[in-house]
Amino acid sequence: MATFNELVFSGVQPTGNLHLGNYLGAIKRFVTMQDTHECIYCVVDMHAITMPQDPKDLHRQIREVTAAFLAAGIDPTRHIVFNQSQVPQHAELAWVFNCVARLGWLNRMTQFKDKAGKDRENASVGLYAYPDLMAADILVYRATHVPVGEDQKQHLELTRDIAQKFNNDWSASIAEHGFGDAFFPLTEPMIAGPATRVMSLRDGAKKMSKSDPSDYSRINLTDDADTIAQKIRKAKTDAEPLPSEVEGLKARPEADNLVAIYAALTDVTPADVLRDHAGSQFSGFKSALVDVAVAKLAPIADDMRRLMADPGHIDAVLADGSARARVLAAETMNAVKDILGFVRAR
Ligand code: TYM
Repeated sequence: MATFNELVFSGVQPTGNLHLGNYLGAIKRFVTMQDTHECIYCVVDMHAITMPQDPKDLHRQIREVTAAFLAAGIDPTRHIVFNQSQVPQHAELAWVFNCVARLGWLNRMTQFKDKAGKDRENASVGLYAYPDLMAADILVYRATHVPVGEDQKQHLELTRDIAQKFNNDWSASIAEHGFGDAFFPLTEPMIAGPATRVMSLRDGAKKMSKSDPSDYSRINLTDDADTIAQKIRKAKTDAEPLPSEVEGLKARPEADNLVAIYAALTDVTPADVLRDHAGSQFSGFKSALVDVAVAKLAPIADDMRRLMADPGHIDAVLADGSARARVLAAETMNAVKDILGFVRAR
C-alpha cells in the first residue's frame, strides 16, 4: 500500500454568522490539531457562491472567518491559512472530479436536497457539484485527516469514493508515474468530541445553523457577553432537573444539547458535567453555562473585533497562506495531469 504523510485539511464557508456549532464542532478542534499535525485551514469562498451572495457581505465575511481562525488560536506562520479562490488548483481538480464522481453518487447527497428544497430545477449546478469541489479541496493537498462536524460526514464519504475510483481507474498510469498503488489517500473524517452536532437553542431537534432566521437559535462568535448570557437564559429547556447519568438525557434533546455545549467548552465529557450538576435546576445550570461560555467566547469576540479593524493584516495573512498553498497544490495538479495524459509545459 502507498503511504501518505499525515496532513490535516479543513474548511469553513464565509456565509452568514459563524456560531458556536462551527466553533465547537470545527474551529476549536482545528486549534488542537496544530500541536500534532501540519494543518491547512481554508476559507472556502468558492463554495459560498453556490448560493446567492452579496459581494460586499462576502468580502467582509471572508475576513471575518479568517479573524475567527486567528482569534481562536490558529497560528498562520506555523500552518497555512488561506482563502480558496486564491488557489486555482481547487477548481481545476474539481473539474477532474466532476468526471470521476457519478451522478448517482451526487443524487444521494442530503445537503443538496436540503439546500435546493422543492425548487430543485432552479438550484445552481455549482450547488449540485459542491461535493466534488469539497473533495478537490482536500485531495489537492492529499490530506489524510479532516476535522469536521457530523453534518459533513456524507461529503467525506464521497471524498473517499472519489479518491478510490481515481486510484482504480488510473491505476496503471499511477504506477507508471512512480506513485505505487494509490495516488490519493482515503481521507479519515475526524468527527469527535461531545459537540459534533450542536443543536439550535430554540429547538433541540434542529441543528444550530448560520441560516436560521432566529438569532436566538444560535450564539454567534461575534456576540458580546450580555448577548451570550441573554441567549443562554432564553434557551428552551424542559421542567426536570438534570439527571445523574447520560442515559437520562436521551429523550431530552434540549438538556442533552446544553450539557454537550458545557462539556465541549470546558474540555470534559457529558458524564463529567452530570457528575458535578446532577439534580440542578436549569436556572442554576444555565448560570454556570453563561459563566463558562462568556469566559471562553468573549475574548475570541474581542480579538475578532481587533483583527477586523486591520483588514490589511488579514489580507496579508491570506496572501501569504495562499502563496504557500499554491506551491503544494501545483505539485499535486501537475502529477494529476501526468497521470491523466495531459501535455504540460516543463
Ligand atoms: P460549514 O461552513 O457549514 O461549517 C464549518 C464547520 O462547522 C461544522 N458545523 C457544526 N458542527 C457542530 N454543530 C453544528 N451545529 C455545526 N454547524 C456546522 C461543520 O461540520 C464544518 O466542519 N462543506 C463545508 C466546508 C468545506 C470543507 C471542505 C470542510 C468545504 N470544503 C473540505 C472540510 C474539508 C461546510 O459547508 O462547512
